[in-house]
Order: sequence, then structure tokens, then C-alpha cells
Amino acid sequence: MSSSASSPAPRARDSWSGQTGFLLAAIGSAIGLGNIWRFPGVAYSNGGGAFLVPYLVALVFVGIPMLWLDYAVGHKFRGSPPWALRKVIGGGEFIGWFQTFVCFVIMVYYGAVLAWGVQYTIYSVNAAWGEDPTSFFTDTFLQVVPSDTFSWSPAWAVMIPLALVWVLVLLVIGRGLSKGVEAANKIFLPLLVVLFLVLVVRALFLPGATEGLNAFFTPTWSSLADPQVWLAAFAQIFYSLSVGFGIMLTYASYLKPKSNLTGTALVAGFANSSFEILAGIGVFGAVGFMAHQQGVAVADVEGLTGPILSFVTFPKIISMMPGGPLFGVLFFSSLVLAGVTSLLSLLQVVSGGLQDKFGWSASRSALVLGVPATVISLALFGTRSGLNNLDIVDNFINSIGVVSSAILFAVLCAVAGPKLSGLRAHLNSVSSVKVPKLWEPLVGVVIPVVLFVMMAMSVVNLVNDGYRSYKLSFVLIFGWGSVLVAVIAALILTFIPWRHRPLDPHATVAQILAEDVRSAQTEGGDK
Ligand code: PFF
Repeated sequence: MSSSASSPAPRARDSWSGQTGFLLAAIGSAIGLGNIWRFPGVAYSNGGGAFLVPYLVALVFVGIPMLWLDYAVGHKFRGSPPWALRKVIGGGEFIGWFQTFVCFVIMVYYGAVLAWGVQYTIYSVNAAWGEDPTSFFTDTFLQVVPSDTFSWSPAWAVMIPLALVWVLVLLVIGRGLSKGVEAANKIFLPLLVVLFLVLVVRALFLPGATEGLNAFFTPTWSSLADPQVWLAAFAQIFYSLSVGFGIMLTYASYLKPKSNLTGTALVAGFANSSFEILAGIGVFGAVGFMAHQQGVAVADVEGLTGPILSFVTFPKIISMMPGGPLFGVLFFSSLVLAGVTSLLSLLQVVSGGLQDKFGWSASRSALVLGVPATVISLALFGTRSGLNNLDIVDNFINSIGVVSSAILFAVLCAVAGPKLSGLRAHLNSVSSVKVPKLWEPLVGVVIPVVLFVMMAMSVVNLVNDGYRSYKLSFVLIFGWGSVLVAVIAALILTFIPWRHRPLDPHATVAQILAEDVRSAQTEGGDK
């Protein structure tokens, strides 16, 4: 696994043009579909206003500390997860690739939800879903087959926008970090904020909006005694902040040596949560309007979680309100913009990993990862089984893939290499806000234990009860299978020898040459 003198000349890695570019991209990654379609429903069904307590505890004691860990490792070792983690400890590369393939699995279905958003932006113009948005979504649009059948037959209304989404994001990734990802975030994120603010303000002026907000914010304090509510809060923070599975680590690896890490993490963390709460306000303002129109209580409105909230309940609301088409376009294009910037971050993990290991250019990496990703994405999620496949893969890769990768990552950093004290010293040497000593036991012990309990509970449930009413074979293939695929792909990539060594983005030619000579002399000494 050593690099050799005959390998391609090392090329300095790309870097953010400045701290702002990085901050926008980090916020763009965190603000995603999870903020708009996941948070409002999760908060509402887990105690309403009271959910904010476990949620903020999770943000401060889990989200931010893990974000600091991601930033510290990425920035100190200047590489995407496989490179950075092999510098933490020899065998760490495997965990780095595991994180990378978890991102790969997520991106192939995440792109599909974006494609739904693209299509629904168009449908909004004339409320194409007609009188019955529920059957329009499942029967007309997704043409979904019963959950015990499998179909390769294309659902064209998904397949076509999905192919377009892939072309677009691969073109961006192929342009490289600063010209592609950074430039895209600089346009998409401000646009998202503006569109979404207009949407929220409009929602607040709808009749009944206050009832919606009351339903959303009224605390059910007894829910604080329910461990499930706490687990939901931890899971939401993880999902929403994109921590612990390589994304933030990768982004931080492209920062310049003198960068304020901890302060930026705080800004990114709080910006993401603020957007999440804003989404709750917008969504429940609109839901309140719907309840008002129907003359029912908000509690009696159905379909307030997951895809149904965005793709069935929202269309109903859009059809009912004056100026609905414009509201619809705002809502679905916000969903698309929020999702694109997150999808780009998932892609950058994989692209960056390939660039670091093989010395490929951004465009070549985009091609190598883009072809299989597009094919898998179209075949599994652009077809009539798409919704079922997506539901299973999403559940397993999040409750097992993402969580196990975060546990392994945190434990690895605690026991090996520079240890957490070294990483804390690194953070403190460059940052404005100083990391307290308490961070070390928190990240090394408390967080892995909490995550382990969370994962063990999911695994026990899944083993005992399966997942929803899906057939065991589907759960094995798409659920456990997607985690297994990430493990196998990670093993293969770990055993392929390094062809390249990622260098400091600001290495001079002399440093690059010296590094090359050094690596040629020390067989196996890539550390
Ligand atoms: N944080 C983003 C979101 O909330 O949608 C991106 C993301 C995180 C996507 C985790 C997928 C995922 F599993």
C-alpha cells in the first residue's frame, strides 16, 4: 500500500477560495431534505415544543462536538476519509472507505428524492395532481408496485428528471471543489434562503396559520420522559448536520492551514438548526391553514411526516390556497435547492477519496463514480419499485450505516494516533472558540455509547420484526445488503495500493518533490 516513484506526480489538492466559501458549503450540506421534510414531522410527533429540549441538548452535546471532531481530523490530515483515517491509524483506511461508501449509498437514492422535487416544481404550475394528490403521487407519478413485488419497469416521470439531476451534479463535481462545489453553493444557498423566507412569510399570513404553529410549538412535557423521543432527537441532529460519516471531514480537509474551525462549526450548526425550526414554522403554518379550511383540528390532519408531508399534504394545501401555484413552486424549488447542495457534499466525499487515492483529476473521478452511481440510481429508484427500495435502503443505511460509521470513527480517534488530546490541541491552535477538556470524554466515550445504544435498539427491532411489512428477501437484499455493499466495497478499496498521496493544498513545488522522494524511499511509510 505504498506509493512508488513511478506513480503519477503528486498534485496539490484543491482548496476553498476562503473561509466563506467553506462555511456556505458546510451549511449547504447540512441544510438538506432532512430539514424540510423530516424535521417538522419528527418534532411534531415527538412532543412538539418540548422536542426542542432534547433537540438542543443533542445539538450542543452531540452535534457540535462531532462536528469539531470531523473538522479536526479533516483539517489536520488534509485528506478525505480514507487518507485522513489511515493517518490516524494504519487500519483506519477501511473505516474511511466505509464512510465513503455509506455516502455513495445515500447519494444514489437521495438523488431520486431530488428528482421528485424537480418534477413536483413543474406539477405545481397547474396543480397537476388534481383532486386526489395521494393516488396521484403513488399511482400516477411513482406508479409504485405493491410492496411484495419487484419491478424493473421505468417510472418515466421519475427517471427523466433523475437522469437530469445526475448530469447536473456530475458536471458540478467534475469542475472540482472551488470551481464546482463552492461556486454552486454560493449561488444555491443564498437563493434557497430568499425563496424559503418568502414561503414562510406567505405561510404565516394564511388563515389558520396560528393554529398550526400552536400545534407545532405546544409542548407535551411528558414526552421528555420517553427515551424514544431522545433517540429521535439524536438521530435528527446526526442526519441533519451530516456529522460522523465523512462529509464534514472531507470539506474541512480543503481548508487553508490557518482557518477558524470551531467558530465556523458553531455558526454552521446553529444556522442549520435555525433553518430547521424555520421549516417547522413554514410547514406548520401551512398545515394550520389546511386544518382551518377543512374545519378540523391540526391533530386530526393526516400525513404529517416523511415523503407524504411534502408530496401529498403539500399538494393538497397548494390546491386549496389562493396563489397556490407560486407557493408550490417556491416550496418544491426550495426542496430541490436544499437537496442539491447536500447531494454535492455526498458526491465530494467519494470524488475526493478517489482523487486522493489515485491522483485522478476531478473530472475523471466524476466519471468513474458517476457512471455506476447513475446506473444504480436509475435502476433501483427510477423504476416502479423505487419508493419501496428507497424506503428500505434509507432506513438501514441511516440507522446502521451512518451510526456505525460515526461510532467507529469516534472510537478510533479516541484510542489511536494523535488521540483526542492531540486533535483538541489542533483545534485550539487555529480556532477562536477554545474546545474544553470535557470534549474528550464526550466524544471518546459518551457519544459512542449513546450511539451504540441507539443502533442496538434499531438492530434488535429490525431483526425481530423486520422492516414494515416488506418481505424478508427485500429487507435482506436492500436493507442489510446496502450496508454489506458498503463494507465489501470498502474492503476492496482498502486493499488496492495507493497511487498517489494527497498533499497540502499550498505545498510548493519543492515540497511536492521532497515528499515524492521521501515516499519512494520509505516503503510502506505513507504516514
Ligand atoms: N444533512 C442533509 C439533510 O438533512 O438532508 C444531508 C444528508 C444527511 C443526507 C444524511 C442524507 C443523510 F443520510
